[in-house]
Amino acid sequence: MKKLLVANWKMNPITVLEARQLWLASRRAAKGARNVQLVICPPAVFLQILVSGERPANLWLGAQDAAAAASGAETGGISPSMLRDVGARYLLVGHSERRALGEDDALVAAKARLALRLGLRVILCVGETKRDERGEYLKVIQAQLAAVLPKLPRAMLGHLVVAYEPVWAIGAQATESDTPAGFLEQKLFIRRVASQLIGRVGRHLPVLYGGSVDELNVADFLTAGEADGLLVGRASLSIKSWTKIIQLV
Ligand code: 13P
Repeated sequence: MKKLLVANWKMNPITVLEARQLWLASRRAAKGARNVQLVICPPAVFLQILVSGERPANLWLGAQDAAAAASGAETGGISPSMLRDVGARYLLVGHSERRALGEDDALVAAKARLALRLGLRVILCVGETKRDERGEYLKVIQAQLAAVLPKLPRAMLGHLVVAYEPVWAIGAQATESDTPAGFLEQKLFIRRVASQLIGRVGRHLPVLYGGSVDELNVADFLTAGEADGLLVGRASLSIKSWTKIIQLV
């Protein structure tokens, strides 16, 4: 399987001009990266601007969040149908930064279910806020999966990817990333739980790693960590780092 390399720009950059420069850099790098499926998740306001123009076959756009309804009275909401119409093919669901704003498992499940039904590929984010010696954090991940996976349309499960992002490893306040060995344990755990919840597809579910990925650790996560791909925040905002990461993958 090709590695899935996903950029989550979060609430960056500020201008259309910068967004276009970052996108063009991805486009250039994508051309030489045959073993990679690249997905750029910009803020939704930039999607339509970026989608216009030529695009290599391994470069896709995604969105960072969506409403749990296709349309209706939801001020400020953006529906999965709208995102699809302006070029998104992937959707991040349940990112820890959305969960921190109050999004619960039921809402995450509703968003993932609708997005799959409406033709988007879903990247479901799971991860614990802290790791403890006794392995309690595994229960957190198990609960996050159990709340969502059984609710998804079975026929669309081939369009589901899980991203394991331990919250303690995310963003500028993180002291470290997970280790490749630590991630591999999580990947196997996630697949085992998923196969209990949704059967055979769960055993082969692609699992990405996210949290302080950079040029220095990308190769280790893909080789020793056996990650099916990576979800990259800060390092995807620097043209130099991002281009290097694409080359390394
Ligand atoms: P960083 O790569 O900045 O730690 O962010 C990870 C993340 O949250 C990607 O979704």
